[in-house]
Amino acid sequence: MEIKSLTLINFKNQDHAHYELKKVNHFFGDNFTGKSTIGDAIAYVLFGVTKFGYKLHTNEFVKMDKTNMYVQLDVINDGKNYKIKRERHGSKNRVMIDGVVAKDTEIEEIFGSAELFLYTFFLDTFPTLDKKEAREFIIKLLTQSGYVKEEATFDSMEKQLTAIRRKEKERKNRSSYYCGQQEVLKKQIEQTTVSVGTETTTQTRSLVEEEINQLTMNIQDNTMKLNQLQSEEKRLNNEKMATPNLQVGDSCPTCRQILFSEQLALLEEETSQKEANRTSELYRIRLEKEQVTEIISKYQQQLFSLKEKLYSLPVDETPNHLVKQWQQQVNDIEEKLHQLNLESTEDKNEASLIKAAIANLASKYQLVINQQLTRSSMILFQTLKNGELRPDFQLQYDGKPYRVLSTSEKMRCMLEVVHLISTLSETNYPVFIDNLESITHLEPPATQIITASVKKGSPLTLYSKE
Ligand SMILES: Nc1ncnc2c1ncn2[C@@H]1O[C@H](COP(=O)(O)OP(=O)(O)OP(=O)(O)O)[C@@H](O)[C@H]1O
Ligand SMILES: [Mg+2]
Repeated sequence: MEIKSLTLINFKNQDHAHYELKKVNHFFGDNFTGKSTIGDAIAYVLFGVTKFGYKLHTNEFVKMDKTNMYVQLDVINDGKNYKIKRERHGSKNRVMIDGVVAKDTEIEEIFGSAELFLYTFFLDTFPTLDKKEAREFIIKLLTQSGYVKEEATFDSMEKQLTAIRRKEKERKNRSSYYCGQQEVLKKQIEQTTVSVGTETTTQTRSLVEEEINQLTMNIQDNTMKLNQLQSEEKRLNNEKMATPNLQVGDSCPTCRQILFSEQLALLEEETSQKEANRTSELYRIRLEKEQVTEIISKYQQQLFSLKEKLYSLPVDETPNHLVKQWQQQVNDIEEKLHQLNLESTEDKNEASLIKAAIANLASKYQLVINQQLTRSSMILFQTLKNGELRPDFQLQYDGKPYRVLSTSEKMRCMLEVVHLISTLSETNYPVFIDNLESITHLEPPATQIITASVKKGSPLTLYSKE
């Protein structure tokens, strides 16, 4: 791009000014004569913005006490001539290309983007960007330029890494939550085991329960015995009742013969013998019944007091099934932690692949950047202690950060950066070097150059040459 002429009407301190420009243009003038105004006018007429890209602030360009202003530019771009006029009438703005009202998008189609123009036309605009903005701008240029052919972009890879880091962080949170839960459960289990081991409650309880069982069984046995005795007693009593009272002439109950007195005497003796046996047997049974009944009632008393004791024993609050449940939970958590660990390893592997790809792409891009710069350097990545790369943006001149550079060093540094940006974007915008008096030796850029220097006592004057 080459600007052929520039006309300013009511622009900043200029009422009416017209300049014919050539390849190399030097403006001279005292302070406040309008040198910087030339740069402002060019950015304004082309893109309708200030040097820092603000559209709104251009209303401050209207000369004091005036309501209308315009700037007109004759320019050659890609071998074609254009007449651009941008004017402001009160609050109305418009731009015209060759006398036809146009939109800013049409301007950008012809001349490229406003940001690209501002960053290369002015030397002090790009350095005002914050790191992120500057880095994104350069990476966009690198990606769009054909200098490095690569499928994956920094952006996509860095986004992937950020996502992985976020996942890892979430995993860490979950892990520590699970670990905490596990800790609590383990402590619960431990305390429960300890209480079972030291307290005799459970032991006593089972002993008492065993005794109760034994007693119950004894009572059952003795009750059975008592029943047997009772039925035996009943049988003997029945036998006694059934014994007939025989007389002479009756028939014998066993042999059916008529009883004579001798036979009757024999039978009576036999019967009385049986009767005596039965009586002693009944007596024995009664004694035994009394004993068994006594034993049963003793056992029942014991059983009663044992049951009382059992009810009075404290109930174990943490039965085995709870401990089992906790142990299961501990195991489940262990499994979850294991799963998290697996995921983490997978992600770490993926991350190291991405990091390697980033490092690879970074070195390719850095090589392209370094080839275009001599004393300046532009650093897109910070190398951490562990060798990892982190997105960064540093501009340096002779190894010194941009912020600490002198005015002339800043200008030299930016002239190299302008060269880099122009090369990557394949643009050839003019460069406006304001305050040229600060710099003694200048390596001029290959494009059209417009400089401005202070010259004491001089009105704004232009010296141009091809
Ligand atoms: N809207 C405006 N109306 C009138 N004057 C303005 C307006 N805006 C800026 N000025 C003035 O125009 C003058 C020229 O400004 P400019 O910045 O171009 O000066 P300069 O020649 O670059 O000076 P320096 O040598 O100090 O850099 C300044 O005095 C400035 O205050
Ligand atoms: Mg100035």
